[in-house]
Amino acid sequence: MNTLKHLIDISDLSVEEIGQLIDTANDIIANPGKYSEKCRGKKLATLFFEPSTRTRLSFEAAMYELGGNVLGFSEAQSSSAAKGESVADTAKTVSCYADIIAMRHPKEGAPLVAAQNATIPVINAGDGGHFHPTQTLADLLTIAREKGSFENLTVGFCGDLKFGRTVHSLIGALSRYSGLNVVLISPEELKLPSYVKQEVLKKAGIPYIQTSNLEEYMPNLDILYMTRVQRERFFNEEDYLRLKDSYILTPDKLKNAKKDLSIMHPLPRVNEISVEIDQDPRACYFKQVLNGKYIRMALILKLLREAGTIA
Ligand code: NCD
Repeated sequence: MNTLKHLIDISDLSVEEIGQLIDTANDIIANPGKYSEKCRGKKLATLFFEPSTRTRLSFEAAMYELGGNVLGFSEAQSSSAAKGESVADTAKTVSCYADIIAMRHPKEGAPLVAAQNATIPVINAGDGGHFHPTQTLADLLTIAREKGSFENLTVGFCGDLKFGRTVHSLIGALSRYSGLNVVLISPEELKLPSYVKQEVLKKAGIPYIQTSNLEEYMPNLDILYMTRVQRERFFNEEDYLRLKDSYILTPDKLKNAKKDLSIMHPLPRVNEISVEIDQDPRACYFKQVLNGKYIRMALILKLLREAGTIA
């Protein structure tokens, strides 16, 4: 790969760099006017081969708020992928038109292939059931603002831990801070993949528990990260229908939870969190949405600076 800095996996960023991105995002929140011209004349290409609301629109809003412009497509069918063009050729082509790429693709590894062929920075905006590092940055900014630190947290991940790429990336990020305890709550069929357990949790010596019961460890949790069952990754609809409502968080299920629990969800929500919980001060999922825009602004600035595209 060339020496350009891309963001494909959250481990592409050091703990120090994550701290700097969070500091920049907090500064943008406090002083938005200071950043409104930073990307004047620069272009972000959003190449989305899979559906998205928050990720694509937050990238676009981020670039507009930095004074830049956006081009791209929101479905594979409207790009030359529909004619059989490779990801490598698409990346080379878009490098002629834009300064930075955000790519979402159903195939694991597609953004890495794009990065190996592009002459501009590439950001992975979600690759299949693999990783989603910019959602993790949004999650980390939210945790930093809610909890003040990433140390000594007990985090419960609930739902589709097999295909939920946001879970894989967030576990990877949090495993680098001390005192982490993880509770993995899922049906048997949707357990965390063993590559994440082996290469992340076991390697870092993080204590973890696997259970199918949402309420069992509720009193221990500082953060409860709910996820949707990922219908589009199932091989058959019957399995999806059987598993889709495995967990539904209702006020009753929170009766033994900590007063300062943070309830997170990358969204979209299907049925996993009852709408009554939206009024609960512990609900953080719409804060994650907003934080996602600010941290993506910080990320675009960092990558364009390192590429020498902006000062
Ligand atoms: C997530 C994704 O695309 O992985 N959504 C998002 O980007 N916020 C979660 C999901 O689709 O369930």
